[in-house]
Amino acid sequence: MIKFHEIYKSAKEKEYILDALESGSVSGDGKYTYLVERELSHIFATDKILMTTSCTHSIELALDLVKRDERDEVIVASFGFPSLATAVLKAGFKPVFAKVDYDDMNIDPEHVKSIINGNTRGIIAIHYGGFSFDIDKIMKLKNDHDLFLIEDCAQAFLSKDGHRILGTIGDFSCFSFHGTKNITCGEGGCLVINSNDESIFERAHNIRQKGTNRRAFQRGDASNYYWVDKGSSYCPSDILMAYLYGQLEEREYIQNRRKYIFQSYFDFFKDGKNDLVESFSGMKNSDGGNGHLFYILFKDSHNAQSFIDHMRVREIAVHKHFYPLAQSPMGQNFIEGSSFEGENDLFDRLVRLPLHVMMEDGDIETVLKALKDYF
Ligand SMILES: Cc1ncc(COP(=O)(O)O)c(C=O)c1O
Repeated sequence: MIKFHEIYKSAKEKEYILDALESGSVSGDGKYTYLVERELSHIFATDKILMTTSCTHSIELALDLVKRDERDEVIVASFGFPSLATAVLKAGFKPVFAKVDYDDMNIDPEHVKSIINGNTRGIIAIHYGGFSFDIDKIMKLKNDHDLFLIEDCAQAFLSKDGHRILGTIGDFSCFSFHGTKNITCGEGGCLVINSNDESIFERAHNIRQKGTNRRAFQRGDASNYYWVDKGSSYCPSDILMAYLYGQLEEREYIQNRRKYIFQSYFDFFKDGKNDLVESFSGMKNSDGGNGHLFYILFKDSHNAQSFIDHMRVREIAVHKHFYPLAQSPMGQNFIEGSSFEGENDLFDRLVRLPLHVMMEDGDIETVLKALKDYF
């Protein structure tokens, strides 16, 4: 069986985890959190980075940092992960669903433009599959309408848009190191704050540490450790950061192998005319991706299902992806009065191929042969 996903085990992660355990550095903000933050600071060229327990928590934290006014709507793509809508709700905003562009499954700037109104406060946009959404158009809308922009980079660690690394453009950027991601620690995330305003960074630390001034106190800048703000507990254990540090050390190998597998699939689709397929990963623009996933969007859900059956017979695991938020049981509560009611058939038309570092060359060949036989 060719698995859809399998976690890569880096050479040193066990050693680092044991070191964290044996040195007693098991709660948050210890040695490995510092080491990970230092690596990420180099990658993103900023020190405004906070390690968190998940991308979901990073989005919640970012939303807590947004300045409030009377506007209460936040636009998210309907073809997206529930975390976005859930975080929006928890923060007291209302989610408003936007379409995606079927050529790359990223949020459609034209549709976003058409649904912005006097109540719109911000946009959370996913870089789907590690490929950048149309940053320039979304940034223009952000600037023209005085909105906040959160980049959901859960799938886009180390991806680029031209020379820009994703996660350095919006006001806030949220990453995931969940077990399904390229670089993982099981459950984890980080928040990148793209502002030089130290007070926002300090406040983020307070919110992340249960609403306390723990950071200032530890620095010696506060005489007491006490409650200063609303907050939650978003700080990961140093054991997780030890795991992540081991993975980060091998990021080049991990990314290169994933990109190699991605390229093999991409090459199969890029040249061939395909009557069955509406789009596939990298079709619109294949630059800058991180080899996170490879999707095929079929024109017809029956073909998608027959493809899934074909791959199953060959013992190759393939998966669908997001169930559109607007169609989901919870999302139905937020579409009343909206001219856009979601994309009913997307869930049944999009199929992802296996893509992970544990795949051997023979596995890639087997998948390619199965693609050739089907198409
Ligand atoms: C686009 C997107 N955003 C957010 C998340 C949530 O990430 P986490 O599990 O780290 O909270 C995911 C998880 O798969 C995702 O794909």
